[in-house]
Amino acid sequence: MAEAATVGRMTGRLDNKVAVVTGGGNGIGRATAIRFAEEGAAIVIGDRQEAAGAETVRLVEAVGGRAVFVKVDVTSRLDNDAMARAAIENFGSLNVVLTAAGVPHPDYVSGDIEPDLKRMRDRAPTTPARAFTEFDRDELAAVMEVNLTGTMLSLQACVAQMLDHDCARGASLITIASIAAKHPDAGGLSYGTSKAAVWYMTKVLARSLAGEGIRVNSIGPGFIETHMTAVVDLMPEESKARLYGQVPMGRKGTPREIANTALFLASDEASSFTGEILHPDGG
Ligand SMILES: NC(=O)c1ccc[n+]([C@@H]2O[C@H](COP(=O)([O-])OP(=O)(O)OC[C@H]3O[C@@H](n4cnc5c(N)ncnc54)[C@H](O)[C@@H]3O)[C@@H](O)[C@H]2O)c1
Repeated sequence: MAEAATVGRMTGRLDNKVAVVTGGGNGIGRATAIRFAEEGAAIVIGDRQEAAGAETVRLVEAVGGRAVFVKVDVTSRLDNDAMARAAIENFGSLNVVLTAAGVPHPDYVSGDIEPDLKRMRDRAPTTPARAFTEFDRDELAAVMEVNLTGTMLSLQACVAQMLDHDCARGASLITIASIAAKHPDAGGLSYGTSKAAVWYMTKVLARSLAGEGIRVNSIGPGFIETHMTAVVDLMPEESKARLYGQVPMGRKGTPREIANTALFLASDEASSFTGEILHPDGG
């Protein structure tokens, strides 16, 4: 019965591919895992949230796909190695990687809005210049550790497996940056800087890995309807209007819209794209 419900949805753009998705427990990562599975890929979901990861496995299976969950903190080299090995051990190959694990601030817990609200409440009324002089260096280090170093470690572990197991040619790596990589208003010092660095690293890796036949691209989403932006809706009207007023299409994007962009970059249809950033951001 479940199988019959999915017939017609599997169009096979990722047939015989194996994808690793970090941050696959929620939001953009989860939507991408499901979208890739609909197109025939087997999925390894890496996330630090076990229950959320298990739910993504269930959702992938519900569309007729195959998935395994590996508990991963992307800042751990050992965890990343285990995640990359799980692709080979469970599905015999590794062809696509999407790195969606990320945090907007050090206390972020996906699905728990309390730390976001506390941050909003604790923000002292100050000028932008004072916000800078009072900025805590530990915040920068913590956000860079997950968003930049974590992305690097995930890709490093996956590329090593691709080279070891002769599946590098035709592979596609997709990082998740943000419009905040290019627009300071959207991200602030630590988050925006980390995403600009992810974008820059994407370009460096595109050059380093082109000789092996691996493409490396980035997606820079605008405001997307996930746990990460839930707090924006609780901001004072004026701040909310300032943020959303920058979006010509006048709405948040959906995780599925980002997943569709990732599907294009993962598929052979994007065979001449490398070192690019695509912005599904409503304008
Ligand atoms: N939502 C947006 O508007 C938006 C816009 C631009 C970019 N992004 C980026 O998209 C990516 C996905 O975010 P989202 O909006 O889906 O948020 P989300 O909170 O729904 O998903 C983020 C996932 O990353 C996981 N994660 C966080 N730190 C981790 C770690 N150290 N190790 C392993 N997993 C970890 C979380 O558990 C969660 O499942 C992030 O990199 C985010 O910065 C989001």
